[in-house]
Amino acid sequence: MCGIVGYTGFQDAYTIVINGLRRLEYRGYDSAGIVLENKNANFSTAKTKGKVDDLVAISENLKGTASVGMGHTRWATHGVPSDRNSHPHISNNGKIALVHNGIIENYDTIKKMLTEKGYTFKSETDTEVLVNLIQYFMELDANLDFPEAVRFALNEVYGAYAITVMHEDFPGVLVVGRLGSPLAIGLGNKEYFIASDASPFVEFTKEAIYLEEGHMATISLENGVDIRSIVDNSKIIPAIQELKLSLEQIEKGGYEHFMLKEIFEQPKSIHDTMRGRLIVEEGIIKMAGIWDHLEKFTNANRIIIIACGTSWHAGLIGEYLIEEFARINVEVEYASEFRYRNPIIGNKDVVIAISQSGETADTMAALKLAKEKGAFIYGICNVVDSSIARITDAGSYTHAGPEIGVASTKAFTAQLTILSLIALKLGKHNGSLSNGEFMKLITELDHLPKKIEEVLKSTHDLVKNIAKDFVNAQNFLYLGRGYNYPAALEGALKLKEISYIHAEGYPAAEMKHGPIALIDENMPIVIIAPKKGHYDKIVSNVQEIKARKGKVLAVVNTGDTQVSEMADYVIEIPETSECFSPIVASVPLQLLAYYIAVYRGANVDQPRNLAKSVTVE
Ligand code: M6R
Repeated sequence: MCGIVGYTGFQDAYTIVINGLRRLEYRGYDSAGIVLENKNANFSTAKTKGKVDDLVAISENLKGTASVGMGHTRWATHGVPSDRNSHPHISNNGKIALVHNGIIENYDTIKKMLTEKGYTFKSETDTEVLVNLIQYFMELDANLDFPEAVRFALNEVYGAYAITVMHEDFPGVLVVGRLGSPLAIGLGNKEYFIASDASPFVEFTKEAIYLEEGHMATISLENGVDIRSIVDNSKIIPAIQELKLSLEQIEKGGYEHFMLKEIFEQPKSIHDTMRGRLIVEEGIIKMAGIWDHLEKFTNANRIIIIACGTSWHAGLIGEYLIEEFARINVEVEYASEFRYRNPIIGNKDVVIAISQSGETADTMAALKLAKEKGAFIYGICNVVDSSIARITDAGSYTHAGPEIGVASTKAFTAQLTILSLIALKLGKHNGSLSNGEFMKLITELDHLPKKIEEVLKSTHDLVKNIAKDFVNAQNFLYLGRGYNYPAALEGALKLKEISYIHAEGYPAAEMKHGPIALIDENMPIVIIAPKKGHYDKIVSNVQEIKARKGKVLAVVNTGDTQVSEMADYVIEIPETSECFSPIVASVPLQLLAYYIAVYRGANVDQPRNLAKSVTVE
């Protein structure tokens, strides 16, 4: 979603802001803009529909003109992507500039009030209302300081926001605030950076403050960073974090796309997820988050997993894992549904929130609701110190490293790895899992990175070739049974996200209850058919498809004959226990989606309309 970059210091603000916006491109956006405070303390603004390159094309003359400024990539919510609706938005008096990530829900009421007072609006955005509300407060009381006027305005709005504001009469000052959307302040030597995440300033400083919910900050070279509560202006002493992020992690490292790089990183990311947690020689799983709260989990009424998108698919597999190995009742819910359906939940329930970004607005809101109702909240996040990670009672980071491609790949397999560890740990602890079985499974889990490495080697060229045959496909069905039903859902989601081909995932047995009507010689069907996991039933499903001339692409275990003989395309993966097979099977499906999208000329890392972290409802 929208990205914010701000800078005050001694370097060229244009270069810092533009490079920073490029780093945030992965978040998904449709327009971009910049405002700089030039040497005479006047604003120079440029904004346009399109990409950062389009912005550069109209603004290069601003290079070298300022050492204070801010920029924005917009993901449209209120009003279509257009030059007018792009940020920054400027107040009616031309003195205040504002960039915003999030949604001001009561903007309409405020807009009416301001319109009655003579304010006019050039855009359809909620953001333009907020910048004029700040002007309004400053006009109401001529003695009001700029940061104080921002604070007054923020107290009038509800919704979600991360904002950065500049005022021509307050040169060198950036005012920021956050509620619901993330914002980090990088602390350099005689310079400060502002960004939606730390990637825009990682090469300049290793120290950052992550602004907390309901806090704002006034930043200037003169007075440093002054953090206050938006509600009552009380002073806040911030925690300074040391950034673990490296430049290498956020660059493509020779791959054509981040997505491909991230697919190939999976042997390492899965290994990193298990590192220090799975100690096979000692026969133990050490996970601080779970360790300290084992009884909460094993005595829980039920575990509710809440998530969205790919993380929700991981949650479904988590349900299978925890129910099978720990015999604890698990339910999986879309966060967006959970929060609005008045769920029955209490202090005997454990809620696990899964989120790569740790910023997903729906998941965050569902968590807050569960917390209010007294449930114990556990987070599985990839982004360290993200909002969800910070409000949970305990949790485990997936440690997959930054995931930049909008389509989640390595974060998904890392989530499955964490869920496997949790299920096995709980099963061992409550005696549902025998020691022998536990040892067998953890040994296998430990071998997964090696297996994924083999899969990447043996399937990459093959899948790349197969993908060519499906470039013009209009629809796809993905089928799987048991643990591989969610893997089928995830395979279908990957394909539709980046190639824009319609794809649906189904439990293979459900095919006969409807989707079978779609099958003809033009319908490709991806079927996940490992040996362990209802293989005979899958064989029957493949027969049913072939009887209707469907084109079958089967993911089978090495040496398979029965399904392979019937399938039109065969991708072999090594055998694993059924519970880990989605981790292995997902890899060729990610490659398939990737290459189909590449051949169709799609923007794989930044698919249309999608955002990496969905910080609005
Ligand atoms: O950051 P989160 O895991 O909370 O994000 C949830 C979904 O928005 C996300 O998984 C989305 O479906 C991805 N684009 C999947 O590739």
